[in-house]
Amino acid sequence: MSFVIAIDGPAASGKGTLARRLAAHYGLPHLDTGLLYRATACALMDEGLPLDDVEAAVEAARGLSLIDFDEARLRGREMGEAASLMGAMPAVRAALIDLQRNFASRPEGAVLDGRDIGTVICPNATVKVFVTASPETRAQRRALELASRGEEVDYAAILEDVKRRDARDSERSAAPLKPAADAVLLDTSELDREQAFAAALAIAEGGR
Ligand code: C5P
Repeated sequence: MSFVIAIDGPAASGKGTLARRLAAHYGLPHLDTGLLYRATACALMDEGLPLDDVEAAVEAARGLSLIDFDEARLRGREMGEAASLMGAMPAVRAALIDLQRNFASRPEGAVLDGRDIGTVICPNATVKVFVTASPETRAQRRALELASRGEEVDYAAILEDVKRRDARDSERSAAPLKPAADAVLLDTSELDREQAFAAALAIAEGGR
């Protein structure tokens, strides 16, 4: 039977790492849906278009092929900020729904991570996890991640980014960031990587 794992949570909560590891553990394909919003923003920037051009953003979202993008560039700080502007546009979200649902409908199942997987994209997912951690913990993790990729790191600016994105993602009217009613909450503030993975795996096994 199809096994769909939906992992949602705020910026830098560690949901991407958990999703990747769960996918590897179960041999399932994984889609990091944040990349779709990042790539949409990137396409607009590359064409020199403003980030509030809804029509152009929808067109970019419809024509998206992740193969055309440099993942390291997509994962940079600037693109995270721009992606959250894309995510606030209902028409962009709508344009990305089919791609995500098609990915989730593979016969074996899939792991998807994002903000609205359990609430909007895959309301019937087999397992839903909502990953959280304090803003300070998430800013520290993001700082380490960016530093490991050679980006210059300013912790205070990253903490501001995290808080601003939390506010924008939770307060928007289109698919705001919130746990699905049937999601299991996983707070990783006090957990190291292995403990967080063990906890996520236990939730996945419990929901199978
Ligand atoms: O997860 P990541 O940090 O890559 O996401 C970048 C931005 O894309 C988020 O701040 C959010 O605004 C948007 N996003 C979204 N819905 C998703 C995934 C990402 O709105 N499913």
